[in-house]
Amino acid sequence: MDLLIEIAKAIWFILPAYGANAFPPLMKGKIPIDRGKKLGKNRILGDGKTVEGTLGGLIFGFFVGLVQIFVQSKINLESYGFINITIPLILTLTTGALIGDMIGSFIKRRFGIPRGRPAPLLDQLDFVFGALLLSSIFYPIELEIVLFIIVVTPPIHLISNIFAYLFKLKNHPF
Ligand code: CTP
Ligand code: MG
Repeated sequence: MDLLIEIAKAIWFILPAYGANAFPPLMKGKIPIDRGKKLGKNRILGDGKTVEGTLGGLIFGFFVGLVQIFVQSKINLESYGFINITIPLILTLTTGALIGDMIGSFIKRRFGIPRGRPAPLLDQLDFVFGALLLSSIFYPIELEIVLFIIVVTPPIHLISNIFAYLFKLKNHPF
């Protein structure tokens, strides 16, 4: 099952970004980062990007990465070809994910798409692009892993959002 191992390697690398992206809804944040300001007739980012959510995402993503560093200290994953997770990688993956997600919202607002309405692929991948770009300062990731991440993230994102919706953590299943 070579394919499954390759997918596992891709997810292993991007996992702190997944953590940073999945946690914000749980914060039920109230303070919008854009402070309610508009650019033209639409909000800069909208009420879906909050100070609490962003901080919660950063902290949780960092925690996920620390757990990975702990796992690495027990199992020599690098010898199987898994990328070694480091503190600089965790910091850039989590920060990049949150910035990418904000850029996604910024783009949606500029196209007049209201907060929470779907923008297929942009919604699922904005945070991944942010994470990959910023983390590339510390780890020039292989194109193959980037492609695996881009292919597996949208279905994983959709399935987890459906669960978040069923558990009433999100208002929409997307
Ligand atoms: N969230 C937050 N702060 C962030 C990112 C997300 O508080 N930086 C919370 C918000 O409650 C948001 C939820 O997580 O509603 C889901 O995030 P997302 O799907 O990215 O936001 P949307 O509400 O869909 O808004 P947008 O249209 O701007 O993507
Ligand atoms: Mg959304």
